[in-house]
Amino acid sequence: MTPAQIWGCCHFVEGRFTVGCYNYPMASGIKHVQEAQVKAEELRSQIHILDYEYYVKNEPSLSDAEYDELMRRLRAIEADFPELITPDSPTQRVGERVAEGFAAVEHREPMLSLANAFKQSELEAWNTRARKLAGRDKFRYVCEPKIDGLAVALVYENGRFVQGATRGDGLRGENITENLRTIRSIPMQLQGKNFPEHFEVRGEAYMPKAAFEKLNEERAERGETLFANPRNAAAGGVRQMDPKMTAKRRLDIWIYQLGWADGDGASVPAGHWDTLRWLSDLGFRINPEIKRFDKIDEVEKFYRTWEDRRHGLQYEIDGMVVKIDDKSLWDELGYVGREPRWAIAYKFPPIQATTKLKRISVNVGRTGSLNPFAILEPVQVGGVIVKQATLHNEDDVRRKDIRVGDVVIVQRAGDVIPQVVGPVLSKRPKGSRPYRIPKTCPSCGTEAVRPEGEAMSYCPNLSCPAQMYRWIGHFVGVMDIEGLGEMWVSTLLDRGLIKDPADVFFLAVDQLVELDRMGEKMATKILKNAETAKSRNLSTLLFALGIRHVGGEIATIIANHFETLDAIAAASTEEIAQVEGVGPKIAESVHAYFADAQKRAIIEKLRKAGVNMTQKRAKRVEGPLTGQTFVFTGTLAAMPRGKAEALVESLGAEATGSVTRKVTYVVAGADPGSKLQKAQGYGIEVLDEDAFWAMLKKNGVKA
Ligand code: IVH
Repeated sequence: MTPAQIWGCCHFVEGRFTVGCYNYPMASGIKHVQEAQVKAEELRSQIHILDYEYYVKNEPSLSDAEYDELMRRLRAIEADFPELITPDSPTQRVGERVAEGFAAVEHREPMLSLANAFKQSELEAWNTRARKLAGRDKFRYVCEPKIDGLAVALVYENGRFVQGATRGDGLRGENITENLRTIRSIPMQLQGKNFPEHFEVRGEAYMPKAAFEKLNEERAERGETLFANPRNAAAGGVRQMDPKMTAKRRLDIWIYQLGWADGDGASVPAGHWDTLRWLSDLGFRINPEIKRFDKIDEVEKFYRTWEDRRHGLQYEIDGMVVKIDDKSLWDELGYVGREPRWAIAYKFPPIQATTKLKRISVNVGRTGSLNPFAILEPVQVGGVIVKQATLHNEDDVRRKDIRVGDVVIVQRAGDVIPQVVGPVLSKRPKGSRPYRIPKTCPSCGTEAVRPEGEAMSYCPNLSCPAQMYRWIGHFVGVMDIEGLGEMWVSTLLDRGLIKDPADVFFLAVDQLVELDRMGEKMATKILKNAETAKSRNLSTLLFALGIRHVGGEIATIIANHFETLDAIAAASTEEIAQVEGVGPKIAESVHAYFADAQKRAIIEKLRKAGVNMTQKRAKRVEGPLTGQTFVFTGTLAAMPRGKAEALVESLGAEATGSVTRKVTYVVAGADPGSKLQKAQGYGIEVLDEDAFWAMLKKNGVKA
């Protein structure tokens, strides 16, 4: 019963609404539902206009306090009369409703991608070809910043926002309507009446640079992995299961296209430029930097001005999109594969800068590899201050002859961490010497070894603190022990509570709660997650063991072949090398690992902790999912992960423990781990549990 329904049997006492002996606060002070409805609608349209002024036009006409007061009044009415809540009410933006998983959405018209041009000649070749095909000697071009975010499609029915979806594979995306409602610049209701009954717009959802920096700062404080760039953070943001989490990411959107439109209501402009203006009048956020030109030379000039100016923008762009204005030519020009001929992405070159290489430091990887990296005189590269950059490995430094004291070229390209491209030889100081990697481990002082045929040196000491820190970090990450981030690993090592990965399974709540900022709730959760991790499959365990040259895929191949850790440990180098897909270098490394007494002691400890060390060989069956590769992360409500893996394997798919580009689906249960972010970073399709079951059902699996 809502307060409105029980109104008839109650009365007001000093502004409070009483039923029997209970007091209900009547927040809005409105008694009748009709009155409430009129008032709510009035407030909603007022707030929609204020949102538009603030979030789209950037010209607020009321103070924040006045705006908050209107919101408070609307919330009060909706609290008293919940039956009046509409999905497009501004109160629903903050994620009052939980997203119902991500159902698939078929795009009525495919969402395409763009061909790239990197230099003027490529832009001109595109232009010449388009002119020839269209039989025109002149075009008008619309130039738009290419926003580095993710494409979304928004559907409006009678002026109301009814559905939002990701691009997905271009034909089918995910329904993320509830999450998109939290983006305040997406109009829930359109302005005026000049719109088709039913239509779709497309745009780029993105995370502003400031929001990105703040998010990463917060994540660093919590010891969580950082997002490589705003695009990944935005992609993760729109796929949150809880819209409240999306709201926290402070995403925004630029609308760049009309999708399809039908029904009466408005005639759509014939040009793209005019379409954008019309969309702007309806209340959509259209990028103010968009320009129209008559000549391709002007396009080139405009692009050049942005090579530098882009760093001053509050969001990242990675090029300019050039579109032919006349939409009647779009169908005529058609497509090549998934790329229309009427548009091209004119990308910016990777951003480079030169600076002085002050020192070469070395960090120790989880397998003991000594990884050189550059300490630089701080330099701005594409709006970001770079102080360190990777140097890959010792051989690479030698090959490029990068020396301490050199002026070097530093590069940032897309989401890649800054790298040193090479030295500027003309500026080399006198007396510089070729680089040599230290002969001893910088962390423990043990003499480094350089195995034959390898590009780098290694610290052979398993108890080396730096190596152990990285190994444990890798172990808890791969075993997906959620909550135990790198920060905690470091604290636990410092306190002597763990010395190797197996110790993680022997921690107790009273040890953990002793740590600063660790409550009982969190400690219990971490231990519960560790308990669950014990039943991961052998492939996952093998990868987590941090054997040199054994990544996720190789681990799966070896685990499937031998089926038990003991069988792998007992195998000779030759036996391992006979497994298809495993080379002699890997076989040697695996064999050496299990021959090591220290490693064997850790494995015995893992056994004592009850960690699963077996896996049934996946029989390669042909089925509807043949060719697909699944990774599971988080807790599935319906069955243990191992069962779900067996199920997809029985349908012909492969189940693996680690996210690589080969993976086609990541299934995210409750509390998903870092695999989810990695998947999002790679643009791999993520299924929640409902979507996963829907897929299984479609492929003949009974509930
Ligand atoms: S037009 C048929 N305009 O770039 C092409 N795309 O590489 C429709 N993007 O998937 C896209 N800014 O996510 C267009 N102003 C812009 C854009 C833009 C960013 C993205 C979009 C698209 C990708 C293609």
